[in-house]
Amino acid sequence: MEAAALLHDVDKLPAVRPSVADMAHGAGSAEWLARSGYPELGEAIVGHPVTRLADGRWFDRWFAGASSEALIVAYADKRAGQKLESMAERFASWEHRYPPEVRAEKARGSWTPETLAAVRRRAEALEARVCDFLGIEPSDVRRLEWSGRALRLARDA
Ligand SMILES: [Fe+2]
Repeated sequence: MEAAALLHDVDKLPAVRPSVADMAHGAGSAEWLARSGYPELGEAIVGHPVTRLADGRWFDRWFAGASSEALIVAYADKRAGQKLESMAERFASWEHRYPPEVRAEKARGSWTPETLAAVRRRAEALEARVCDFLGIEPSDVRRLEWSGRALRLARDA
């Protein structure tokens, strides 16, 4: 799960993107990892993009069969910006960075207010399911102890 979480956005790297340019974000990471010898990580990665929450049929199918690792990676993606945030903060930051006109362009016009409301409902369902099976509250979520040091090392590299 940690490997999937660390590598979930690998398809955004300039060195990787061209080789999976025809694939949706997340699916590109899974494909590149499979080609690199790590096909087992893909299932935990493909459901993480927020755009997956906008596709009700895709989300419902994924949500019904996703592994706990996939659910946690997708939930972590909704809690982690530059720092650990609540989902409300994460969505507010995301909406600030991608105002409706930009979202509409990125999502090819599918981000109506109704879609945005559905995205939030699905994100809340994801949070409830993950926190329920872990027996925690959303406010209990913390970064792993090693992550602060690892982030500092990566920043200084
Ligand atoms: Fe991502």
